[in-house]
Amino acid sequence: MLKAAVVGVRHIGKVHCRYYQEIPDVELVAVCDLDQKLAEAAAQQFGVKAYTDIKALLAHEEIDVVSIATGGIENGSHHFEPAMIAIEKGKDVLVEKPLSNQLSEAREMIAFAQEKGVRIACNLNHRFAPAASKAKEWIDHGNLGSLLYVNMKLTIGNQNESTPWIHLRALHPHSVDVMRYFGGEIKRVQAFMTKAPGRKVWSTASINMEFASGAVGHLTGSYDMDNRHPIEQCEVAGTKGRFVIEDVYNEATFYPHHQSELTVIRNSVLTGMEGFNATFKNRLHTFVNEITLNVPPDEISGSGKEALAAQEVIETAIRSHQENGAVVEVKALKQERKK
Ligand SMILES: NC(=O)c1ccc[n+]([C@@H]2O[C@H](COP(=O)([O-])OP(=O)(O)OC[C@H]3O[C@@H](n4cnc5c(N)ncnc54)[C@H](O)[C@@H]3O)[C@@H](O)[C@H]2O)c1
Repeated sequence: MLKAAVVGVRHIGKVHCRYYQEIPDVELVAVCDLDQKLAEAAAQQFGVKAYTDIKALLAHEEIDVVSIATGGIENGSHHFEPAMIAIEKGKDVLVEKPLSNQLSEAREMIAFAQEKGVRIACNLNHRFAPAASKAKEWIDHGNLGSLLYVNMKLTIGNQNESTPWIHLRALHPHSVDVMRYFGGEIKRVQAFMTKAPGRKVWSTASINMEFASGAVGHLTGSYDMDNRHPIEQCEVAGTKGRFVIEDVYNEATFYPHHQSELTVIRNSVLTGMEGFNATFKNRLHTFVNEITLNVPPDEISGSGKEALAAQEVIETAIRSHQENGAVVEVKALKQERKK
């Protein structure tokens, strides 16, 4: 039985709690929030112990895996401290995205986890959907041939005006991760961004990408749309065919070249994903299974290292925009521990 704890339980942490409790071989033992009232309310809701300090939690409870669902600036500045404490104590950690809003901290977390030999995963939940797994199989089985392009669109409505880069750093770990999941390493980036009328942040972005494989791609991102409508579409094309995934998990269609018959995987009303939160469920299940099977830290799915790679692409896009749309090389992954 794996013993789990969740740190940060205002919104998303409670989704982690709910799904840990649904996994048969996991026991949710405790929750932690700096806000005592929130910690106690969540503890009562899930029937577990409440803490306001992760150090005390780890000192008093036997824990194997810790979810870090804190937020902060650009939804990521509060992850570093509790994640480093959990890693120091030798725990496997699942960190919400972005790992941190600062690349230097994200790099340090990955390096420290490596040093300690623990697994660090990120909640890159958009790839943890049956449609994405099937599409990955199509690529791996050669159904698409050599990849030519990966076109991604992730557009939601979010009026957050906290920093110029909130849209890029808080939302696009997901889209860039899905692009890398299908297309591999991204080598070069060129970005143009705009602010919707009245907005102070770069709320809509258009980003060209070149993959290490030679394939090309594009990301359209926005915080200026409406959440009532589809938010995501991913199209991947190769020399033998192409697929389109609609709205994360709703439908994946494979269009083989030179054939009229299509393959369509549709989310079932009765047995499919019951909503977006089910991506969290699949993601947590995968992490827990991988821990149970003792999968080595370097081989886990949706790893912290992959999240860091997506963040490197986002920061490169920001640089490109700052350099007036220059084509900028994505830096090789750096993991660094401060001396
Ligand atoms: N994967 C997804 O699809 C998805 C969707 C939405 C949000 N998120 C991510 O989930 C995370 C949490 O989002 P939220 O909206 O619940 O954030 P939030 O800011 O509403 O809540 C964070 C909570 O963490 C607590 N906290 C901060 N530092 C702490 C610490 N050191 N120890 C204990 N508690 C601490 C705060 O008191 C707060 O209650 C963010 O990183 C966000 O980007 C992911």
